[in-house]
Amino acid sequence: QTSVQASQDLPRLPALPLIGSLLSLWSPHPPHVLFKGLQGKYGHTYSLKMGSHKVLLKKGKTFAGRPRTVTTDVLTRDGKDIAFGDYSATWRFHRKIVHGALCMFGEGSASIEKIICAEAQSLCSVLSEAAAAGLALDLSPELTRAVTNVICSLCFNSSYRRGDPEFEAMLEYSQGIVDTVAKDSLVDIFPWLQIFPNADLCLLKQCVSIRDELLQKKYDEHKADYSDHVQRDLLDALLRAKRSAENNNTAEVSAESVGLSEDHLLMTVGDIFGAGVETTTTVLKWAVIYLIHHPQVQRCIQEELDSKVGWGRSPQLSDRGSLPYLEATIREVLRIRPVAPLLIPHVALSDTSIGDFTVRKGTRVIINLWSLHHDEKEWKNPELFDPGRFLNSDGTGLIIPSPSYLPFGAGVRVCLGEALAKMELFLFLSQILQHFTLSVPPGHSLPSLEGKFGVVLQPAKYKVTATPRPGWERNKWQAH
Ligand code: HEM
Repeated sequence: QTSVQASQDLPRLPALPLIGSLLSLWSPHPPHVLFKGLQGKYGHTYSLKMGSHKVLLKKGKTFAGRPRTVTTDVLTRDGKDIAFGDYSATWRFHRKIVHGALCMFGEGSASIEKIICAEAQSLCSVLSEAAAAGLALDLSPELTRAVTNVICSLCFNSSYRRGDPEFEAMLEYSQGIVDTVAKDSLVDIFPWLQIFPNADLCLLKQCVSIRDELLQKKYDEHKADYSDHVQRDLLDALLRAKRSAENNNTAEVSAESVGLSEDHLLMTVGDIFGAGVETTTTVLKWAVIYLIHHPQVQRCIQEELDSKVGWGRSPQLSDRGSLPYLEATIREVLRIRPVAPLLIPHVALSDTSIGDFTVRKGTRVIINLWSLHHDEKEWKNPELFDPGRFLNSDGTGLIIPSPSYLPFGAGVRVCLGEALAKMELFLFLSQILQHFTLSVPPGHSLPSLEGKFGVVLQPAKYKVTATPRPGWERNKWQAH
């Protein structure tokens, strides 16, 4: 029996005209938790109606389209980026170029390792200063600066010092975008609401215009001193791809490159910032929270670092294979607090089916990664933070114990920055834990494990005390 023959309509949440299933979704819980709860009543795959859109919630398979929404259109000049751009020949070509450029500058490249290590060291010197002054620290701006600088070096071959006004402006508009875009806000569900004044939409437009000014400036500078012979960064790689597509007369490339405009290039760089900074920073913040909650996990990582890396040098990417407990801890953080618990919505590009259910072309598909990562049938005690679940029985090798583990998504739309993000998580955490033990400041309570749902699942603000480990007290490194 094929799945098409077996197709049937999906279990569906009750819906009213105009407002659709909105009443069933009224809940004090964030959407990923609410949707997981609804599985008990409607099964693993079910549908609901939001405004005029049919939305489908499912586990697993990915579809390559993206829905257009009011807020993401404002952010991306009507989908001229990669993350929110719909599937098309231009999009495929575009993603291929960026993937190639990221491979050259991001994955496996020695220079990006150096950039990340320099940022990790500068982060450690901030921790060292705070420790010497006996201060508890909000790590959030420091982590954001470190991760932003990695992306800046990658995209523009430049970085920021603490307190740089351009960097401060960037922090401010980024937060404005995170707070207002793609949160399933009412204008995205009911686009006609745009005719009314809307504070969130105004803020978003303001932030996007500040971002665009900065992107345009960098773009113009790169165009002015572009050379075919030197490739300094991602923007140069994009400029080169655009030029060679324009100059190439072969039918295949010129047809594919149709529409690869200046807007596409600018929005792609905007995407790399949007997708690359907030996500990685948020995972680092969650990692620190779980390390504070589980001092024994910190001790295990430090013992591993001491025995495999020692005291004379900093950890490098080539140490990854010999530090399985640290790698397992990173995997567990990505499981227990997936930064994108509902991924980015997908769209079915043609009539199809999921399991026994019919799915019509144009249906939005939301994959509940939260529920995959917290499924009791797949994970023993899913609420428990246990890096050991990613280790083999003698603790020497890494495993993925369940197919229900997709922190970077899967398929055509899998995260473009997965390799880079993993390098950053490893190098930042190994450097910090080699030198410091993290704990809750005296008089503070443990940081909350509850996330705030938005474009990413963000932890609440918290402070941390970084105590230099014995042997590292007296500034054993240079401040950068
Ligand atoms: C998409 C996770 C870091 C670039 C995604 C998706 C997830 C994800 C879950 C959506 C997949 C889907 O819709 O099915 C993460 C996590 C990160 C991270 C957990 C950090 C730990 C990065 C970095 C970059 C990046 C550093 C850039 C250098 C992108 C892009 C997309 C994406 C461009 C859109 C892909 C597409 O729609 O084709 N990421 N990401 N991400 N990510 Fe990441």
